[in-house]
Amino acid sequence: MARARSVYRCTECGHDHPKWAGRCEACGEWNTVAEEPVVLRAATAGLRGATRARGGARAHGGEAAPARLRDVATHPLERWRIGIPELDFVLGGGIVPGSMTLIGGEPGIGKSTLLLQAAARLQRAGRAVLYASGEESPDQLRLRADRLEEDAGAVHVLGETRLEAILDAAAALPADAVVIDSIQTVYTDALESAPGNVGQVRECSGRLMRFAKETGTAVVVVGHVTKGGGIAGPKTLEHIVDTVLYFEGEATLDHRLLRATKNRFGSVDELGVFSMTEHGLIAVPNPSAIFLAARSDTIAGSAVTALMEGTRPVLVEVQALAAKSGYGTPQRVATGLDPKRLAVLLAVLERRAETSFADLDVFVQVSAGVRLSEPGADLAVAAALLSSLYNRPAPRDGIFVGEIGLGGEIRPTGGLDRRVNEAARLGFHRVFGSSRGARVQVPGISLVGLEHVDQLVRALAA
Ligand code: TYD
Ligand code: MG
Repeated sequence: MARARSVYRCTECGHDHPKWAGRCEACGEWNTVAEEPVVLRAATAGLRGATRARGGARAHGGEAAPARLRDVATHPLERWRIGIPELDFVLGGGIVPGSMTLIGGEPGIGKSTLLLQAAARLQRAGRAVLYASGEESPDQLRLRADRLEEDAGAVHVLGETRLEAILDAAAALPADAVVIDSIQTVYTDALESAPGNVGQVRECSGRLMRFAKETGTAVVVVGHVTKGGGIAGPKTLEHIVDTVLYFEGEATLDHRLLRATKNRFGSVDELGVFSMTEHGLIAVPNPSAIFLAARSDTIAGSAVTALMEGTRPVLVEVQALAAKSGYGTPQRVATGLDPKRLAVLLAVLERRAETSFADLDVFVQVSAGVRLSEPGADLAVAAALLSSLYNRPAPRDGIFVGEIGLGGEIRPTGGLDRRVNEAARLGFHRVFGSSRGARVQVPGISLVGLEHVDQLVRALAA
């Protein structure tokens, strides 16, 4: 093919359009028509062949031949420890050479800061790191680096957004790791569309992924987040990469939460907690203390629970406020937990424990940024609700761990021993939980076994 040509294809239904359109004429979806290079396809096929050749199982005809699974050579997975313990932990023990990692988060949350710190550490460990920034100029990066307690002086920076130029620079160094800040600012010559366009993001990500696999470079890309909380660009972006990290937090609070939502090389449940300081991000080894820091002794409507964030127990505060409603339907507002779960718990408390929230507005929230995604937090939500209803503080020295069934019965939760140990470590003396749960013995802690929400009501109203 002589000239680079493009097709305009809908990423939803695959319909081809003669030119770009804001809306697909076949399926009617908006913003799904993306430019795709035609010539590149052929080049891509060549690259794929080369990648397979490295796998070894290749027949003379040029196509790969299948092998028995037991004959496939195994290689221990190599990982480079970055040296920022919380980041290494969330990645599953370090970054994997030849992998591609996407880090998403709202503007200003600290993605560039985290990656510059990571780049500095990796570079100091003797790995060549290229930081390509289309968001900031090299002198802005220098200013940022000067604020950090980290010496980032040896990191290679490049104020470039053309993908081909970035890849050339990475190959010339050669770089062990490449940071692209951000994927929405890079573009490839092969497409005419603007950077950030669905087609550009997809094509550049695909090329970066191949670059990572072929050269063994660790590629990390920053991705912007849309209003809905997803990473902007085609859905395929999250499918293409090996690992997806989200960096979250509230701009007004110092702490930041890092989680993996996809990880081909590790668990997705681990949580890393950082604190944003004058001199960059600092890992917080003891997140429970931060989540409980703002807790007051005397305020009604607060209860502590222990969540399992991956392999680590983390204590968080649940706050509830039940307040006399104005006119109309009372409000139910849940932040950090599923509003449907709140509705279920309120219904159970009303029907099974004869309490009434019927003419009260109910607000529930969790330590900033944390989500109550496991049923074991039910008991703490109920305790916070009841404490607010009766206007009596819940026991200060107790945590609440247990699932509440529709009959009002309190069910045991897994991993109780680790949760109880964390509670003991932070100075708690009592764990309110299911009477049917495992008998966990931890010095300094007594277990208060509850069978039914009735008993929780009595414990809190008394
Ligand atoms: P940044 O890393 O630029 O966020 P992102 O790349 O996700 O958009 O973080 C910017 C914010 O962090 C900005 O409000 C300034 C603040 N900050 C600090 O508080 N301390 C620091 O040492 C640095 C570098 C930034
Ligand atoms: Mg940034």
